Amino acid sequence: MTPPDYEYLRKLLKDQSGLDLSADKQYLIESRLVPLSRKCGLSGIPELVQKMKGGSSALVAQVVEAMTTNETFFFRDKIPFDHFRDAIVPELIKARAARKSIRIWCAASSTGQEPYSLAMCLKEMAGALSGWRVEIIATDLSQEVLEKSKSGIYSQFEVQRGLPIQMLVKYFKQNGEFWQLNADVCAMVQHRQLNLLHDFSQLGTFDVIFCRNVLIYFDQDTKINTFGRLARATEADGFLVLGAAETVVGLTDTFKPNPDRRGLYRPNDSRTAKMPAGGPKFAAAAWM
Ligand SMILES: C[S@@+](CC[C@H](N)C(=O)[O-])C[C@H]1O[C@@H](n2cnc3c(N)ncnc32)[C@H](O)[C@@H]1O
Repeated sequence: MTPPDYEYLRKLLKDQSGLDLSADKQYLIESRLVPLSRKCGLSGIPELVQKMKGGSSALVAQVVEAMTTNETFFFRDKIPFDHFRDAIVPELIKARAARKSIRIWCAASSTGQEPYSLAMCLKEMAGALSGWRVEIIATDLSQEVLEKSKSGIYSQFEVQRGLPIQMLVKYFKQNGEFWQLNADVCAMVQHRQLNLLHDFSQLGTFDVIFCRNVLIYFDQDTKINTFGRLARATEADGFLVLGAAETVVGLTDTFKPNPDRRGLYRPNDSRTAKMPAGGPKFAAAAWM
């Protein structure tokens, strides 16, 4: 790959997805885009870049998707789900007792293991949530991962990563070498394609936002900008959950960390204008 082609791809990826590649990541681009070029019947990255410059927006979308890292697994890092079960949901059950509804957003949900882990947690708490309306919105930049998420079908390898065996037995049916998540759990999650760099105010406000392992790929200004918009999308007494390698500390005061619970943040009162409470009522919200 020539240096100008690398610079072109680097800028395009930053503009389109926020991916901030340092000057020495040629190998990463090559390992992902050489196979894509071949799949598209092109001779290599130079021809791919030429076609993209020629205005192929479908190809640009394919390149952006190919460069995303979709690594995820059920109950990833465990602690955020302990926070969810032991602190977040119990607090919301008290705070939302009058309206009996909870809105949750998984803001980079990849192939679905994260939103479905939350859905299974809520199923396990069904007694305390009886009669409650629960919305889980799963969004991702990549349409391909969303399609897999919607299917609720996982391989043996995927269900062996992080999912307790009791939950596998309770919430999945085996179908040959695959496992199908039960329809009632699938139905708790609604999927939308959404780029975090773009305006997401149309989603409304949330009681809980899981935004994990995506901001690490953004540069500092993009992180700060995204935190500001996430704060406006979080209810004043809501929660933000970040990934193990992510923090607001040193970047923004729109959220404050919970000193007792790592990775858990709450909006600061001093943050800027808030969006109107609630959000569009998507048809597929689940009643517990
Ligand atoms: C490493 S996965 C994290 C999945 C899950 N949150 C977790 O922690 O297990 C990162 C996801 O972010 C998505 N992504 C990357 N850039 C994005 C953007 N600008 N807007 C929305 N999603 C993005 C990728 O497609 C990928 O599925």
